[in-house]
Amino acid sequence: MDEPKQAGGSSKAAVKPALETQPVSSKAKAKALTIYIDGKYVPEAEAKISVFDHGLLYGDGVFEGIRFYNGRVFRLEEHLDRLWDSARSICLEIPIGAEEMTEALLETIRKNGLNEGYIRLIVTRGVGNLGLNPAQCKRPSVIIIATTIALYSKEVCETGLTVVTCATRRTNAAALNPAVKSLNYLNNVMARIEANLAGADEALMLNDAGNVAECTADNVFIVKRGQIFTPPIAAGALRGITRSVVFDIAAELDLKLTETDITRHDVFVADECFLTGTAAELIPVIKADGRTLGSGKPGPIYTRMIGRFRELTRATGTPIFA
Ligand SMILES: Cc1ncc(COP(=O)(O)O)c(C=O)c1O
Repeated sequence: MDEPKQAGGSSKAAVKPALETQPVSSKAKAKALTIYIDGKYVPEAEAKISVFDHGLLYGDGVFEGIRFYNGRVFRLEEHLDRLWDSARSICLEIPIGAEEMTEALLETIRKNGLNEGYIRLIVTRGVGNLGLNPAQCKRPSVIIIATTIALYSKEVCETGLTVVTCATRRTNAAALNPAVKSLNYLNNVMARIEANLAGADEALMLNDAGNVAECTADNVFIVKRGQIFTPPIAAGALRGITRSVVFDIAAELDLKLTETDITRHDVFVADECFLTGTAAELIPVIKADGRTLGSGKPGPIYTRMIGRFRELTRATGTPIFA
């Protein structure tokens, strides 16, 4: 990492463990969800796909997690672009166009009466036989779930997460490119299990070169002497949509942001560290592998970033009810 000049400081702070919850659905939980499957809107009890779908049998498919705030879907176009890129990369033809997909997505939100929440958009390879050859699967399935999600308790969002470096390496791009947001998340799940076993909130995943790639479902940023750094996509990071929002905010706030290889050492000596993801949004990290990072509290650059992020999420996006 090309470090900026000037000295940085650090101090210690008590760390409270985070509570990760299952996706919760407050309003939506009371009443059954309406799910979109292949052109139909069905009650969640009837939302079923075949046991011969290769999405289930082989993790063969692609997906997106998308948030909507204040009646608007945040960065919808970018999410759909990435979905189509992921699909193209695995030779999966999405059976409907972007316009129809957008309408289905907006209508699913409307049918569930939600103003704020989270969408899981899934395209599976479709029904085949028990062999893995995707040529057997004649028609991919499209599934859209609109609900609410809370990955971490409010307290943890305010005080910060703990992370541990895991032994599970991020998938080598030559084996399965992490840029493809596929249904095959076992690499990330294995890392997540390591974090759970270590009593940490998240796992820091390294690539084969030993540099930081990302966390199990989030991109990683560090701050050193007023400058922001994040691993390049080539390090094994997903091209996160929230990551790109951080790039936009940094430019707006005149903060220098550089994509560069980051080592564990860089994380340990960072003044600040935060993670980004659609579900997690922007979340501070205050401990890595037992070391307190910076002041042990969410730092000033994170605080400015999250403030602007919240403004953007409330004021921009594709209107749901227009
Ligand atoms: C492995 C991985 N990295 C990073 C991210 C963050 O990406 P985004 O900000 O687009 O949600 C995600 C979440 O989708 C992810 O699954």
